[in-house]
Amino acid sequence: MLGAYILGIESSCDETAASVVYSGERMVSNVIFSQIAAHQPYGGVVPELASREHLKAIVPVVRQALADAGQTYQSIDALAVTQGPGLAGALLVGIGYAKALAFALDKPLIAVNHLEGHIHAVLLEERQKEERQKNNREMNFPVLALVVSGGHTHLYLAEQRDGNWSYRNIGHTRDDAAGEAFDKVAKLLGLGYPGGPIIDRLSTHGDPTAVKFPPAQLKHRDRKDKSDGSEGPRFDFSYSGIKTAVLRYVEVHEMRASIEARRKALSTIEKPGLEDYLLHTDRKTLDLVASFQRALVSDLVMKTLAAARACNAATLFVTGGVAANNELRQRFEQDAAMEGLPVYFPSRPLSTDNAAMIAAAAYPKFLSGEFAPMDFSAEAGLARR
Ligand code: KG4
Ligand code: ZN
Repeated sequence: MLGAYILGIESSCDETAASVVYSGERMVSNVIFSQIAAHQPYGGVVPELASREHLKAIVPVVRQALADAGQTYQSIDALAVTQGPGLAGALLVGIGYAKALAFALDKPLIAVNHLEGHIHAVLLEERQKEERQKNNREMNFPVLALVVSGGHTHLYLAEQRDGNWSYRNIGHTRDDAAGEAFDKVAKLLGLGYPGGPIIDRLSTHGDPTAVKFPPAQLKHRDRKDKSDGSEGPRFDFSYSGIKTAVLRYVEVHEMRASIEARRKALSTIEKPGLEDYLLHTDRKTLDLVASFQRALVSDLVMKTLAAARACNAATLFVTGGVAANNELRQRFEQDAAMEGLPVYFPSRPLSTDNAAMIAAAAYPKFLSGEFAPMDFSAEAGLARR
C-alpha cells in the first residue's frame, strides 16, 4: 500500500483546524483554533463571525500543523478539506484556501464529508493503538455509527470493501441535534456556551431522577418512508420537545430571576471554573440539568441499540462532540456490553471537530484516486445523503 502524508483542513463550524496524518493511521500533528471566545457573548455560533474568524486563523493554523509535523507545503502528498455539512461561509474559507494551495503546489485535493470524518476519528485512533500494541484487532462489519454533535444526530451503517468505505444513513434527528439541545438548555438556564461540557460536569451534582420527562417529549417514530430514496426502516430522533419541556419547567417553577442572577454573575468571571458554576447554581437547577441529561442520554442509547439490533450491527461507533459526554460513554459501554456489542469512541480531543479526522477519512480516497475537481464547492447540507 502506498504511504502518504495528507494535510487535512477543517472549517465547517467554529473550529479552524489543520492536521497532518500519515496513511490514515498516524496523527503527526493536530492544530485546533477554537473560536468559542468570539461566539460566547452571543450564546451560540454566529455564522458571519465564524467565516471572518476562519479567515484570520487559517493560514497560521495550517503553517503550525505543517511545522509540528516536520513537514513543508512541498513534502506533503495530498490535501484534504471538509466539503460539508456545515456553515456555507465557514466551509468556503477552508475550501478556497485548500484549492489555492493544491493548485499552487500541484498536489491532489480530496473533498471529505464532515460526518465521514467523525467516523474516521474512531478508526484513526484504533489504528494508532494497533500500531502501538502490534495486535491487529479485527473489526467486524457492519459498523453502526452514531454521529452526535452540535449540528447532527445521525446513524450510519458503514461497510468496508477493498479498503473503500460506504455509508447508508438510517436515521437522523427530525429537529434539534442532541448537542444543540445541550447548548439551548444551557443558554436557557444562564450557564453559557457551549452547553454540553458544563451540563456534563454539573450533572454529577444533581439528582437525575428529580424531574421526569415523559417519553412523548422525546418522541420517535420508526418509519418505512422511502421518499428520501433510502431503503429499510429508519431510526429517527427528536430533541426539540425536551428543550420545550425544560422551558416549561422553568416557567412553572418561576426560575427566571435566579437564572438572570446566574447569567450576570457568570458573565463577570473571565473563565468560570466548576466551583464558580456550583456557587451560582441552586439545587433545583442542578436537578433539572441532571434529569435533562439522563433523559437525553437514555433516549440516544435506547434508539441506537434498537437500530443496532434491527440492522444486525457487529460493531458500534459513537462519535462527534456529544460523544465526549461522560454519562453517554458509561451508558453505551454498559448497555452495549449487555448485548455483546463492541463499542468504540474517539478520545475526547478527537470527539469534537478536528482536521485529523478529515485527513484520515481522505486516505482511502487518496488510494482510489478519488480527487476533487477544481470547481467543487461547499455543500452545506451534505448530511442527509
Ligand atoms: O462535533 P462538534 O465539535 O461540532 C459539530 O460538528 O457540531 O460538537 C460540538 C457539540 C456542542 O453542541 C457541544 O455542546 C457538544 O458537542 N459537546 C458536549 C460535550 N462536549 C461537547 N455535549 C455533551 N457533553 C459533553 N461533554
Ligand atoms: Zn462535527
